Formats: sequence, C-alpha cells, structure tokens
Amino acid sequence: MLKIVLLGAPGSGKGTQSAKLVAEYGVPQISTGDLLRTAVAEGTELGRKAKAAMDAGRLVSDDIVVGMIHERLNAPDTEHGFILDGFPRSLSQAEALDELLETLGRPLQCVVHLQVDHEEIVQRLLARGRADDNEDTIRKRLSVFQEQTEPLVEYYQQRGLLKPVAGVGTVDEIFARIKAALDEA
Ligand code: AP5
Repeated sequence: MLKIVLLGAPGSGKGTQSAKLVAEYGVPQISTGDLLRTAVAEGTELGRKAKAAMDAGRLVSDDIVVGMIHERLNAPDTEHGFILDGFPRSLSQAEALDELLETLGRPLQCVVHLQVDHEEIVQRLLARGRADDNEDTIRKRLSVFQEQTEPLVEYYQQRGLLKPVAGVGTVDEIFARIKAALDEA
C-alpha cells in the first residue's frame, strides 16, 4: 500500500521516479500532466480548454484538474494505493485533495518533495525537448511553481507529511533515497 504525492518543480524527476515506484510497489501513477496531454492529443473539449495554459506554462484551471483527479481516484485500481505526480499544485488543489481522500477514507501516507536546483532543471528540460520545454516556457513554469506550488511544502510540513529528498545524482541513487524516506513514513 502506497498513498503518496510526489511534489517537485517541473523537471525535478517526478515522472522518472514514479515509473520506478510503479514497478516496485505495483500501484498506479496518476499524472495530471499526462492526463492533460492525452486529452490535448485526442482533441477533447477538455483538451482544447487546457492547451493554451499548458503551452504558456500556466496552471490549467482547478475545475478541470480536480475533476480529473476525482474521477481517477474513484477508479478501482487505486483502492490499494496511488502515486500522485504533479497534483496538487496549489493550496486550493491540496484542500480539494484532502476533502476527496477523507470522503474515500484513504488519507495520504506522505508527500515526497524532490529538491533540484532550478539551473539544473533548465538544462534537463532543454535536453528533453517536450512541446513546453523551450526556455521561456520552462522559466514561466518555474516561476508558477515558486508562487503557487511551493506553499505546499509548508502546508504538508505542518501536517507532518513532508519527506524532503535530494533530487540530484543518478536516477537509482534518488530512488534509493525515496525508498528510505518511505520506509520511515
Ligand atoms: P507536467 O506534465 O506535470 O509537467 P511538470 O511538472 O512541468 O513536470 P515534468 O514532466 O516537466 O517533469 P518531471 O518532474 O516529471 O520530471 P521528469 O521525470 O519528466 O505538467 C505540464 C503542464 O500541465 C503544466 O505546466 C500545467 O500547464 C499542466 N498541469 C499539470 N498538472 C496540473 C495541475 N495539477 N494543475 C494545473 N495544471 C496542471 O524528468 C525531466 C527530464 O529530466 C527528463 O528528460 C528525464 O529523463 C531527466 N531526468 C530525470 N531524472 C534525472 C536525473 N536524476 N539526472 C538527470 N536527468 C534526469
């Protein structure tokens, strides 16, 4: 059973480490970024609404992402756990998640905070080259992270859920640190 949030700036390695956690613990990864990119690729109405914000590096509106998470956490494959990757990203999303998990009777086990220097992030993302990985959009995503997502560090610290993990080094080194943090949770 694993019920966690992976919190971290764009490019901090949330997706990379989620894939390893899925393989190790057998619970699904729920990435709002992946769900939104699928909606954009399929050309759904939700995808069309989300695309402009994603291209500009802004957050997609809460009603869209909270609705997606609500639907996803009600699916039976999440009964034995989940890895939330890229959600919540603001205080209002964190409060919506608390409410939803309370209704479901499945409280969070912990929040792993992947810490990576912003200049390292810019280099990683420029090397990756996804549609939103140009330098202007990366810097916008980083400033949105600082303004809207970083307050969640204190939010979860106050609730005794925060596990800071250094997100630099090899992928395996970071994964070992995450597992050690989860063992303590
Ligand atoms: P999202 O898809 O969540 O993107 P992100 O948070 O910007 O994160 P990334 O996918 O860029 O990075 P990551 O931390 O997963 O790192 P990764 O493992 O890929 O969101 C995209 C957009 O969707 C947002 O801007 C927003 O518009 C919207 N959105 C999503 N969720 C939302 C929400 N909740 N509310 C509102 N809007 C939302 O690694 C990055 C790169 O680094 C890869 O190339 C990888 O190979 C490399 N790498 C990984 N680990 C290492 C390592 N240890 N050393 C060197 N390189 C590494």
